Amino acid sequence: MFPIGIHDIALATGHYALDLEELAERHGVDPGKYTVGLGQSTQTVPATDEDIVTMAAAAAKQIMAEHDAGDIRTVLLATETGIDQSKAAAIYVQDLLGLPSSTRAVELKQACYGGTSALHFAAGLVHRNPGHKVLVLASDIAKYDLGSAGEATQGAAAVAMLVSADPAVAVLEPVSGLYTANVQDFWRPNYRSTPMVDGKLSVSLYLEAVEQVWKDYEARGGRAIQDFAAFCYHQPFTRMAYKAHARLLEIHGIDTDNARLDADLAATTVYNRLVGNSYTASLYVGLMSLLDHAEDLSGRSVGMLSYGSGCVAEFFGLSMVPGYRRRLRTSANQSAIARREPISYERYREIREFELPEDGSSKVLAVDGAGPFRLRAVAEHSRMYEACHLIQA
Ligand code: CAA
Repeated sequence: MFPIGIHDIALATGHYALDLEELAERHGVDPGKYTVGLGQSTQTVPATDEDIVTMAAAAAKQIMAEHDAGDIRTVLLATETGIDQSKAAAIYVQDLLGLPSSTRAVELKQACYGGTSALHFAAGLVHRNPGHKVLVLASDIAKYDLGSAGEATQGAAAVAMLVSADPAVAVLEPVSGLYTANVQDFWRPNYRSTPMVDGKLSVSLYLEAVEQVWKDYEARGGRAIQDFAAFCYHQPFTRMAYKAHARLLEIHGIDTDNARLDADLAATTVYNRLVGNSYTASLYVGLMSLLDHAEDLSGRSVGMLSYGSGCVAEFFGLSMVPGYRRRLRTSANQSAIARREPISYERYREIREFELPEDGSSKVLAVDGAGPFRLRAVAEHSRMYEACHLIQA
C-alpha cells in the first residue's frame, strides 16, 4: 500500500484584527478572562468583501502556484459558514482558481469536524486512483451573538491542503478513533446567522469526546500515547487545547502541570491565539502553527484530535515526511496574520451591521479587504466574485 496524505498546505485569514483587551473593556470584564482564561489575544474580522470563498481561494491559490491543476480531480470544501443551501462553495473556488471543468466540487458539513472528514474522504479517493490529487479546503468565519460569551472566541481563517499519494508533508496513518453522539451543544438552524450555543455543555462534551475517541483508537490498534512527538487539537479558543490535552494525559495517568502542558502545546497555539476560532480550519491552523514553530519532526508522529459540535470527533496520527520543512510556508503564514489591519471596536460593530441584500436587489461592494479575491457584488440572489490584481506585501 502506498502512503497517502498532505502533499502541500497553505493558510489564509481575513483583513482585520480586533484586540481582545478592547473587547473585554467593552464587555466590562477583566481582560485576563480573554487573554489568559480563553487564551486569545486578537480575533480576525473579515472585511465586508471577504467570505469563506475568498479566504479558501486565497489559501488554495498558494498551492496552485506550485502544482499542476490538471492533476486535481476533486475539490472538497468543508465549512460551517455555508453561503448557499444548495450550491457548493467549492464551485466558486474551482472557478476562481481556473481549475479544469473535468473536476468534481463538493461541500461538506459537520460543524468544526468537516475539514477532517474532507481529509479522510480525500484519502479514500486517492486510494482509488493514486494518480489523482484532491484539493481539501476548510474555511470558516466564527460569529456569535453580540455580547455573548462566545463573542470573544470569534475568528476566521481558511486552510488549503493538497492530498496525494507519496505526500511531501505528512502521511495519514491508517488507524482512526471515532465518536458520534446526537447532542445539542452548538448548532445553527437555517434561519440564523449565529449559532445556538450551550458553551459549558460544549466544553464538557468535547472532553467526553477526547475520552471516547481515544478508547476507540486504542481498541483498533492505534499507537501508544508515548509514540506521539506532538499533539494538535481543535481550538475554539487555545485554552481548550490545554483542557483536552490534560484530559488525554490524565486518562494515561500522566501528571499534567502547567509547565508540561505549555511544553506540549505552545507551538500549536501560536496562530490560533491570534486568528481565533476558524471552526473547520482550526485544527489545521494548529497543525501549521506546530510545524512552523516546533523542532524538526521528520519521521515522527503528530496526534490530531478533531471535534465538531453536534457531535463528531476523530483522533488520528500524521507521520511527518523527512524533509517536510522545505515545503512549509512559514513566512507567508506569519505575514498573513501579521499584516491584518488593527480595527477599532466601532469599526468592528459597523462590519457586524453590514448586511448583504436578501431580497434579490443588487449591491456592488466597495473594496474593503486586500486579498487576492473579493466578493464584488450580489445581484439576483447570486454572489459574484473577482480576482484582484493588487499583490499583497
Ligand atoms: N484572569 C484569568 N482567567 C480568568 C479571569 C481572569 N480575570 N476570569 C475568568 N477567567 C477564566 C475562568 O476561570 C475560565 O477558566 P477555566 O475554564 O479554566 O475555568 C475561563 O477564564 C473562561 O471563563 P468562564 O468559563 O467564566 O467563561 P464563560 O462561561 O463566560 O465563556 C465559553 C466560556 C463557555 C467557552 C464561551 O466562550 C463560549 O460559549 N464559547 C463558544 C463555545 C465554545 O467555544 N465551545 C468550546 C467547545 S465546542 C467546540 O469546540 C466546537 C466549536 O468550535 C464551537
